[in-house]
Amino acid sequence: MRTVRTAPHPDTGGAGGHSRILGIGGYRPRQVVRNAELCEAIDSTEEWIETRSGIRERRFASADETLHSMAVAAAAKALAGAGVDPMRIDLVVLASMSQLDQTPPLSVRVAHTLGARAAAAIDLSAACAGFCHALALASDAVRAGSARRVLVIGAERMTDIVERTDRGSAFLFADGAGAVVVGAADAPGIGPVVRRADGAYSEALRMTAPWGDSTGVRPWMRMDGRRIFRWAMDEVAPAAAEAVRAAGVTPDGLGAFVPHQANLRIIDLMAERLGLGSRTAIARDVVRMGNTSAASIPLALETLLAEGQAAGGDTALLVGFGAGLNYAAQVVVLP
Ligand code: UT7
Repeated sequence: MRTVRTAPHPDTGGAGGHSRILGIGGYRPRQVVRNAELCEAIDSTEEWIETRSGIRERRFASADETLHSMAVAAAAKALAGAGVDPMRIDLVVLASMSQLDQTPPLSVRVAHTLGARAAAAIDLSAACAGFCHALALASDAVRAGSARRVLVIGAERMTDIVERTDRGSAFLFADGAGAVVVGAADAPGIGPVVRRADGAYSEALRMTAPWGDSTGVRPWMRMDGRRIFRWAMDEVAPAAAEAVRAAGVTPDGLGAFVPHQANLRIIDLMAERLGLGSRTAIARDVVRMGNTSAASIPLALETLLAEGQAAGGDTALLVGFGAGLNYAAQVVVLP
């Protein structure tokens, strides 16, 4: 009988009971779609879309840019940035809300393609909050010693579940993937997570029908945007402030604010509520990438680092929120 390891793993890289992000990678689909291209199908205008959401353009995946290929590309970049060989990954956690194949878990196929042959792999369903939930699980696994290095991936092809003619969501959602590698550290690099779900809002973002029901009608995602907007301000913004306190830092000491890229108005209002000063870089990737659900936070982090708005060693407040409704927030140190 094969043994199952439950004790802390001896190879923690010599680090002392903490976790941190070691590397970040993203994949942005090739096709850029501007507001003008969507207006006719939803009876809208470029100005309305930009004023209400901040979005100017987004990326739509082509047929060859599958969830699998985008997740692999983002993860390979994160592994290269971290300088970690895939064989040294113990666990892959993949968050997605647009994975249409019920089984096998996409994470298992992604791990296999990457050559992470020693890893366990699980999928996580927490919609747009998925990345921050997955990051919290990865951090806990590393700190408890049940894994040494964890690959966390957020990957979405929202164009597979959003109806092109749906006025309430077609201009908002988009495709892409982002990933980080989490490993052991001598000092705290991923702060305590503040997280909660509220099923009273389960109708606010949902699919219109189950897949494969007897009517044969294809299900699509539907969203009560106004209701989620209010909830984000009333519930998520105070939770984000709590994550800052739990990490033992102050809002004006944050190097970056990287909330889920749902809507520029939500991002800017949340920054205001948190009392962030001019020293904190605010991620506004939504303007060029739209809302990529579980991929939006690692993609936005990658942009901040690539553009030099944030640097390794800075602290960043991450806040994921979405369907459920569900949120998770934590402060991290950037790699
Ligand atoms: O990522 C997961 C979590 N999701 C979110 O966080 C989404 C949060 N919500 C939002 O981002 C915003 O609610 C939206 C961008 C989706 C919508 O913006 P809004 O300011 O909340 O618009 P609204 O739904 O309150 O609609 C305002 C007006 C309405 O007209 P009246 O009733 O004021 O005459 C709508 O009928 O805009 C109209 N409208 C549109 N007009 C042009 C709604 N959709 C459109 C459209 N184009 N696509």
